[in-house]
Amino acid sequence: MKKFLVIGNPIDHSLSPKLHNHWLKQYNIDAIYDKIKLESSEIKSFILDIRKQKIAGCNVTVPFKKTVIPFLDKLSPEAEHTQSVNTITYSNGDLIGHNTDIAGFESAIKKLNFNMKDKKVLILGAGGVVPSIIFALKNMHVEEITISNRTKEKAENLRILFDKLKILEWGNMTDFHMLINATSLGLNNETINLDFSKLGNDKLFYDVIYNPHETHFLKIGKQLGYKTENGKTMFVYQAQEAFKLWHKIEPKVNADTFMLLDND
Ligand code: ATR
Repeated sequence: MKKFLVIGNPIDHSLSPKLHNHWLKQYNIDAIYDKIKLESSEIKSFILDIRKQKIAGCNVTVPFKKTVIPFLDKLSPEAEHTQSVNTITYSNGDLIGHNTDIAGFESAIKKLNFNMKDKKVLILGAGGVVPSIIFALKNMHVEEITISNRTKEKAENLRILFDKLKILEWGNMTDFHMLINATSLGLNNETINLDFSKLGNDKLFYDVIYNPHETHFLKIGKQLGYKTENGKTMFVYQAQEAFKLWHKIEPKVNADTFMLLDND
C-alpha cells in the first residue's frame, strides 16, 4: 500500500489526512495518507525515503516549504518562481517540487465570481504563503499588488521574487478592491489593528486562515457589508491539485467535501 504524508511543525491541526483519505476511499486507491511532525534536521532523511519510495509522495506545510528545496532534483516553474514547495512527487527517478497553493488560491477566487482583472489588491503580511498568492494574482491580471507587513524589510524582500510590488507602511490604509489577510493575526482570535472604515463600496475580504472559521478581519469585512471568504477553499483546491499530481485523477469538490472538513 502506498503511503503519502504531510510534513510540518506543528502538524496536529492539519486537515490534509482527512481530505486525502476521503478521496482515496472514494476512488478505490490502495493508499493511505498520514501526518508527521518533523524537525528541520530530519527533512533530508525524510526526503531520502521518498527517493527510495518507502514514501510515495508528500505535502509540505509551514515552516518547511522552502527548506525542502535543496533536497529535490527539479522544481515546477511555479515552485521555482515562488521558492515554495507544498507537494513532492517522484517520477522517472526525479524528486519534483510543485506549488499547488497557487492553483488553490486561483480556484478559490474563481468560485467567488469576483473579477480580478485590473483590480487593486492589498496583501497584509509577508510570510511563507505570500509568494504563492502574488503569483496567482499576477496570473489573474490584477492591476496592482501592494504589500503591508509589520516588518517592512520582509515586504521589501518580496521584490527580489516579483517586480512592480508596492509597499504600504504597516498601520496605514488607502483604497483597494480586495484585501487579503496573510498574517497569522486571527489564528488565536487576535484583532487586526488597522482602520478599514474609509474603504469604498464593493470589496472582497479574503483570509488565508480557515480555523477559526471567521477571524476578526473577516468579521470587520462582514460588518462593513463586504464579500468575505476564509482560506478553506484555497486549502481544498490545493489538495485537489496535489491529488491530481499523484493519482492522475481529479477528485470531486462539492458541498460534501466542505461538510467533511466543517465537522472539525
Ligand atoms: P513565516 O514568516 O514564518 O512564513 P507566517 O506565519 O507565514 O510566518 O507569517 C506570519 C505573518 O504574520 C508575518 O507577515 C508577520 O509579520 P512579521 O513579518 O512582521 O513578523 C505577521 N504577524 C504576526 N504577528 C503579527 C502582529 N502581532 N502584528 C502584525 N503582523 C503580525
